[in-house]
Parts: sequence; structure tokens; C-alpha cells
Amino acid sequence: MVDPNETVCYCAGVARASIVDAIADGAKTLTDIQQMTGAGIGSRCKELNPKGACCHSDIRAILQVESGPQDEPSCGCSCGCGEPGSTC
Ligand code: FES
Repeated sequence: MVDPNETVCYCAGVARASIVDAIADGAKTLTDIQQMTGAGIGSRCKELNPKGACCHSDIRAILQVESGPQDEPSCGCSCGCGEPGSTC
């Protein structure tokens, strides 16, 4: 079972529930999530996120579950994680 309190963005301390709430409130893209929650725009991902990367792929996964496939390019963080499709 998915824990709604699970942290998704460690840079901003944003939990899964906040992202799901943003989607329920109309967020349709990663950019919407970034603007509505503050997630996905940090710069300390490698240091703070136990995965050692930014949270974009995790946010996209939540968007996909809640809203269907996404094809928006990834950008916004400055961690230089090199996520596939990232334009950071
Ligand atoms: S973990 Fe989300 S922007 Fe760094």
C-alpha cells in the first residue's frame, strides 16, 4: 500500500498526498505540480533524496497513475541529475 505521507520531494519536503491533492485540484503536468506544491525545483537532490536524484521521475509516476501518460519534458531542478528527458 502506498503511504500518502511518503516524502516525494526531499528538497522541498513535499509528500505524495500534496501531489495527489494538487492533481485533484487541476494539476496536469510536472510544471503544474512544481508551481502548486514547490516540489521538483530544488537543487540539493543528490544530497537530500535517498535515491540520489531529483524527484521528477517520482512526480511523473504519480501523475501517470492519477492522470494517465505524460510527455512533458523534465526541467526545473538544478541538481544536474541528468534524468532522461531532462532539459536542466
Ligand atoms: S528532490 Fe525534489 S527537487 Fe530535489
